[in-house]
Amino acid sequence: MKSERTDTDSLARVIAYHQASKHHLDRYAPGPGGLDWANQPDPFRRFAGAPRIELPLQADSLATAFESVRQGQRPTARPLERNSFAILFELALGLSAWKQHGGSRWALRCNPSSGNLHPTEGYLICPALPGLTAGVYHYLSHDHALEQRAVPNSATWGNELRGGAILALTGIHWREAWKYGLRAYRYCQHDCGHAIAAVAYAAAALGWRAQWLTGWGDDELAALLGLDRAQDFADAEPESPEVALWVGPEPPPTDLSPKELSDGLSFTGRANRLSHAQRDWHGIEEADRAAHRPNALSPLAFRPPSRPSLAKSGCQASAATLIRQRRSAVAFDGVTTLPAERWFGMLDALLPRPNAPPLDAWSSPPRVHPLLFVHRIDGIPPGLYLLARSTEAIAELRKTLAGGWDWSRVEQAPEHLPLYRLAVGDARDAARVICCHQDIAADSCFAVGFLAEFAGPLQETPWVYRQLFWETGLLGQILYLEAEAAGIRATGIGCFFDDAMHRLLGIDGLAWQSLYHFTVGGPVEDQRIRSLPPYAHLRRA
Ligand SMILES: Cc1cc2nc3c(=O)[nH]c(=O)nc-3n(C[C@H](O)[C@H](O)[C@H](O)COP(=O)(O)O)c2cc1C
Repeated sequence: MKSERTDTDSLARVIAYHQASKHHLDRYAPGPGGLDWANQPDPFRRFAGAPRIELPLQADSLATAFESVRQGQRPTARPLERNSFAILFELALGLSAWKQHGGSRWALRCNPSSGNLHPTEGYLICPALPGLTAGVYHYLSHDHALEQRAVPNSATWGNELRGGAILALTGIHWREAWKYGLRAYRYCQHDCGHAIAAVAYAAAALGWRAQWLTGWGDDELAALLGLDRAQDFADAEPESPEVALWVGPEPPPTDLSPKELSDGLSFTGRANRLSHAQRDWHGIEEADRAAHRPNALSPLAFRPPSRPSLAKSGCQASAATLIRQRRSAVAFDGVTTLPAERWFGMLDALLPRPNAPPLDAWSSPPRVHPLLFVHRIDGIPPGLYLLARSTEAIAELRKTLAGGWDWSRVEQAPEHLPLYRLAVGDARDAARVICCHQDIAADSCFAVGFLAEFAGPLQETPWVYRQLFWETGLLGQILYLEAEAAGIRATGIGCFFDDAMHRLLGIDGLAWQSLYHFTVGGPVEDQRIRSLPPYAHLRRA
């Protein structure tokens, strides 16, 4: 009885947060009302006093082609050792470049982040491996180093970690809240989804696989990573547990227990403080409490159906090159067109396949379906289109989207691609306005609104709120890399007017919500910005 009431209450609080954090045409969600530059959070978390293990920079030694990775064709697995994890972190969460303009210099990473604020932190939990002692490590991307947060109390600790290790992600909400206020919690979840996908792509390039450990709850993960140790975070901004991913050449053992792993550890190190002062965003803390994942959940077991192979992208680059060259476009040229075949290939990559990263890491049925604003695809009339990523979604969306939509299959598309035309017409103004008046949504080849099944999944359990945002981030990361492979570029769009999008589609109520937007097109480079190599400051082989 008690847990039912608590869950209803959590559901109400999650929905209250969602509604309060919407941007509206006539008012933005509550924000800080200006940027307090003196208080800008440090983008790098460090643990003072934790022993450091410097990692080699070896991603260039990896010959795997990006084309093989996107097709789910893995090379022979790299051995489980320090140097392989070095490549995994370099390509998943490592720096990809430094940018410089005037007196400012900032780092970019392989995983994108709203406002480049990077709330997501990475951890490794591993048994004794060549070059690494057993324990829990924090990854410091600035130094490409691991900081050993915990050592085991016994020689048998971690024996159950056979054929792989755990890569866990956490989020520091303050990093995003500093700039974006209440809506920041959503951005942290998007970023986590992008990072999950980044890990899955990097693992596949090593011949490994990443898999979400869906049964692990927030408190279990917090204990294992030491996030709940008040003394280690005394004056530092807290980190919230997000996900644990199994990574390695073998599937996850069935007897993994976060509790057993965390019971046998001794911690060292103190987290650095990121800002002088932190403004509390109670709405974010409330939402995080309400969307808390309980411990010992029943694992999810979705297996996607087999599908025809993806059409070749024509990309010749290695995975290591393509992953590190990924960038967000800041502007599109408004003239580049994309061949329809390439567009179909990109959309096809958004459908789950049993072995293709990053969606093979995701054990939940597809709940997010891209609504497409088509502007410049060769041979495809501009207009609104929809990719239904599950058969069940089609019937539901047909009921939900009010208005005289066509719902005709796009005939040129491969037979297995459930791509529907809703309406023909110029969708540029609609895309621009809905994306907070950002020109990049109109000047692209196509823009996307990720429509998510919302109230239904949330009713089952409120923490699915975070999972839905993660799913949009995974899809976004696919579009980022598919765009690079096609020789164009993409940009995630967290700033959009939620209900303006819903009104356009005739969506009433909360059964469906648009949770993230995206745009893909021919980039215009800002020639004033200089690009510098990611790790020249380390002088390390
Ligand atoms: C969740 C998310 C939301 C974003 N929202 C916007 C946006 O509304 N407008 C925009 O121009 N860029 C947006 N971006 C792009 C980021 O600004 C960009 O990822 C960041 O500056 C880092 O640059 P990089 O992607 O080239 O590494 C978003 C990115 C993410 C991941």
